[in-house]
Amino acid sequence: MAQLWGGRFTKETDKLVYNFNASISFDKKLVKQDITGSKAHVAMLSKQDILTKEEGEVIQKTLDEILEEVLSGKLEITDEYEDIHSFVEANLIERTGDTGKKLHTGRSRNDQVALDMKLFTRDEIDETDELLKGLLNTIFQIMKDNLDTIMPGFTHLQKAQPVTLAHHMGAYFEMFKRDRDRLKDTKRRLNLCPLGSGALAGTTYPLDRDYTASLLGFDGPTLNSMDSVSDRDYLIEYLSDLSLIMMHLSRFCEEIITWNTNEYRFVDIDDSYSTGSSIMPQKKNPDIAELVRGKTGRVYGALMSLLTVMKGIPLAYNKDMQEDKELSFDAFDTAKGCLALFDGMLKTMKFNKENMRASAAKGFTNATDAADYLVNNGVPFRDAHSIIGRLVLYCIEKEKSIDELSLEELQNISDVFKEDIFEAVNLKTCVDKRLTIGAPGKQAMEKVLNIYSEYLKK
Ligand code: ARG
Repeated sequence: MAQLWGGRFTKETDKLVYNFNASISFDKKLVKQDITGSKAHVAMLSKQDILTKEEGEVIQKTLDEILEEVLSGKLEITDEYEDIHSFVEANLIERTGDTGKKLHTGRSRNDQVALDMKLFTRDEIDETDELLKGLLNTIFQIMKDNLDTIMPGFTHLQKAQPVTLAHHMGAYFEMFKRDRDRLKDTKRRLNLCPLGSGALAGTTYPLDRDYTASLLGFDGPTLNSMDSVSDRDYLIEYLSDLSLIMMHLSRFCEEIITWNTNEYRFVDIDDSYSTGSSIMPQKKNPDIAELVRGKTGRVYGALMSLLTVMKGIPLAYNKDMQEDKELSFDAFDTAKGCLALFDGMLKTMKFNKENMRASAAKGFTNATDAADYLVNNGVPFRDAHSIIGRLVLYCIEKEKSIDELSLEELQNISDVFKEDIFEAVNLKTCVDKRLTIGAPGKQAMEKVLNIYSEYLKK
């Protein structure tokens, strides 16, 4: 048991207590951030003449060595240390003696861990953003290839109006674009440096907090030391960002699972992203989509857990906050894994364009356009709605679609119908005429694609 305290204790810590309290098994993930933060702290201490230049250099060099050895596997982070901070400091002291003992001057593990977690989260945000950008590129490509791929658009999971695959994919483009925006926002708010806040009340040493903040790429120091050591808002915000990303992925997965059924056959998930059944030889299951949908619950869980952990904590640092780590690390990895897997699945998925079009043709998705035809020929919309309602009923009886009726049959229902009704209810016409920005008409979609193309270049 190597720990950083003990002077005021007369008894050894109970073994179970020690294990319950220790965080090394999971905070070892922060080794890089911990050493980066310590190096900046030491650089500042030297600059401020709190440590000599030589002492600073020895500590910095040794910290580099420790990190290198950990990364290469030469030095193992074992359970004999309470946490990652103790591990780094103990190893430093072992190698540099009294010089190493000066590292923690003007610092507490409270501001240290607050910094480590912020640095870690900041990198995570960047990685997640890259994955989102990759996914957006995949979606963009599918959009470009499918401006003319007609499919039914649904409301209530009932066929509603014809759209295109490009348009449907564009909805997800918007969602993931907003997700990236949220990440940017979270990162901006996160980017203030807590180092130098001490345990809770700052320190009496003449620290230059602006300097450490700038060394570590922050926009500046945090402005209240009590808040600095007990703020986990940025983690909650990021978990909420991840929850939204997962919610979007999960909705997308739900659609893919539906589209992949025998009943729809809109898509074929590639063999490399499907799994089989141990008993039913015919099965090809969309397990990856189902797992992503399922793991969404896990990420929501992390968000709810941390909100609950934080709700009763008085100022300033309390040990409850150590509970932020395992659930965050798990949620971070889960979301990144899901993004990568989902992107791969989408890239390799085959869209059965003929089935999509046939489904749109069968489901009276052009009924609104038929009503609009009557309106354009002088029938008030409410009357047109009711006429087309009767027309649909007739079609259902005859097992035909609107465009499969003869002009005579159409005119039996309303004498307003003329030959040009067939052009008006043609699915391509129905889509092409929807030209307001944001609608599926090709020219409208092309404008949007130009905006997306510029966006993806940034
Ligand atoms: N392992 C702790 C955490 O994750 C580090 C801070 C410990 N501070 C303390 N005063 N015990 O929160």
